[in-house]
Amino acid sequence: ETIVDFRRTLLAWYDAKGRDLPWRHGRNPYHTWISEVMLQQTQVQTVIPYYENFIATFPTVADLAQAPEATLLKAWQGLGYYSRARNLQRAAQQLVTDYHGQWPETATELEDLIGVGPYTASAIASIAFDQVVPAVDGNAFRVFSRLLMIDADIAKPKTRQLFTDIIQPIVDPKRPGAFNQAIMDLGSSYMTAKNPDPEHSPVRRFDASYHAGRVLDFPVKTKA
Ligand code: ADE
Repeated sequence: ETIVDFRRTLLAWYDAKGRDLPWRHGRNPYHTWISEVMLQQTQVQTVIPYYENFIATFPTVADLAQAPEATLLKAWQGLGYYSRARNLQRAAQQLVTDYHGQWPETATELEDLIGVGPYTASAIASIAFDQVVPAVDGNAFRVFSRLLMIDADIAKPKTRQLFTDIIQPIVDPKRPGAFNQAIMDLGSSYMTAKNPDPEHSPVRRFDASYHAGRVLDFPVKTKA
């Protein structure tokens, strides 16, 4: 049926055309975490060299936990929002001290780490631990609001839970991390905010807003 067909179509496209990004090599919660935090406020192309340097400088959670502040801030220099770097180190210390280096594997538990919100927790849980949860960021809001013509206002805090509930049963239970990253790749290619190309999208036949000629009406977002 439709959901199974959607997953198969999306993941076939992702396997063939998904972006080859350094944090997608292997499966390592530390790597996923660092990349997701960097990507929160910074473009992929900018993040790549910072990510490579950061992992080379601090290869493990323990290295990050013990890093001198000057080394940490130098590795972050240019990314901005230095509180992100400080929170990364505090969470690394939390992992060493409170978790004895053993990562929690569920999104709920991951949210107990300093600086890890619902999105980052879900991204780590799905990508590194195969937890079947949607990672709901701006890409997911845009992609699913268009595919399903969801007109809830994404500026409202409650709307995240609505999207989570709608997307949850659609996530591929066998490959939740690939599913979530495929949505990110759709959101940065055929389903961008300003210049989408839904006509050539691999999931065009599932795209309700395209068929209605209303792509740019979604997502609905009231001004602050
Ligand atoms: N944006 C946020 N997380 C991402 C990821 N894992 N891959 C590509 N873009 C992203």
